[in-house]
Amino acid sequence: MRTLSGVQSSGKLHIGNYYGAIRQFVQLQDVSEAYYFIANLHALTTVRDAKLALELTREAALAYLALGVDPKKAVLFRQSDVREVLELNWILGTVVPHSHLERAHSYKDKVARGISPDFGLFAYPVLMAADILLYGTDTVPVGKDQIQHVEFARDWAVKFNTEYVKGYDPADPEGKERGHTPGILKLPSALVQASTQTVPGVDGRKMSKSYGNTIDLFGEEKDIKKRIMSIKTDSTPVEAPKPVPGAERSADASIVSEVPLYDLLKLMLPESEFAEVDASWRAGGKGYGDYKKKLLEAYLTTFGPARRRYAELVSDPAELERILQDGANRARQEASVLMDKVRRAVGIP
Ligand code: ADP
Ligand code: TRP
Repeated sequence: MRTLSGVQSSGKLHIGNYYGAIRQFVQLQDVSEAYYFIANLHALTTVRDAKLALELTREAALAYLALGVDPKKAVLFRQSDVREVLELNWILGTVVPHSHLERAHSYKDKVARGISPDFGLFAYPVLMAADILLYGTDTVPVGKDQIQHVEFARDWAVKFNTEYVKGYDPADPEGKERGHTPGILKLPSALVQASTQTVPGVDGRKMSKSYGNTIDLFGEEKDIKKRIMSIKTDSTPVEAPKPVPGAERSADASIVSEVPLYDLLKLMLPESEFAEVDASWRAGGKGYGDYKKKLLEAYLTTFGPARRRYAELVSDPAELERILQDGANRARQEASVLMDKVRRAVGIP
């Protein structure tokens, strides 16, 4: 089984990226052929400063490594190092219905958040599909918000195969039955970790760099503390039981957690420790400030080792470059085999 995923280098990575994406990457590198990359071409839809783009790309690579992606097990590379992806992006785009892109949730959300509705942003899912299809990917571990993009990749792979592969039957995409030819592009599926579909930010909306509600993975400890202390709570007095999620849904659809402090404690604490916190939360007698301190401790316990590893890796830029070049070579080899087939199929010499 081949696994592939990427994270955009468009800002500092936060714990939503870890629980929603990178944690799964680390688990999957032991049980599959894993390809992980830094989506620095996608990041150009929002980052408009060359120096910053380079810095964020490097930071994302360091973050992958610090959090446990192992270049001996997984192929780790920069999206832009495999230029074949841009060629596939174009060819695939010729079979993509405009109407699909128009109903992309992520595009609509991003425009609503004030990101400029440029062609690159509109065509974002096509490049993402090219990323996935270029490496014959079976499984794409992502957060919930990316499922539609993976479904698009699958639909467009079917469309391409139907258009260009003689004997291809969409009902038998791998050509297992007599008389059917397998597709050139393999059909991928999204893999979403059910327990942590959407990590809430400090304001209860989805944690996202564009909402400014994140708890970062590698920021300064004092900034992390400030963020945790700013988690939105209500005015329940210290002695009273605290409200738990689920009692009543917010009328505001952008709110993913009514009680982000509780949900974040649940996410970060080991089960037995959370059981104690849960009991005291429901009984009353402790203030929100105490729970915030507990969350900061949990954060430092969980991410302390990765934060130390990050600091070590930062001091060896040559080693980082070596790892990324090696990853790019391996990825390129794979990509060139597929692109030969694609070019032949569409008639490009
Ligand atoms: P952001 O929303 O901060 O811009 P990205 O869109 O770059 O984050 O997301 C990178 C990866 O992390 C994606 O797979 C996405 O689904 C996942 N992810 C981002 N935010 C969250 C979150 N709050 N909860 C769960 N997963 C998330
Ligand atoms: N769109 C993804 C995100 O915002 C990043 C990404 C780009 C990606 N290409 C991909 C994820 C291919 C999985 C597979 O997080």
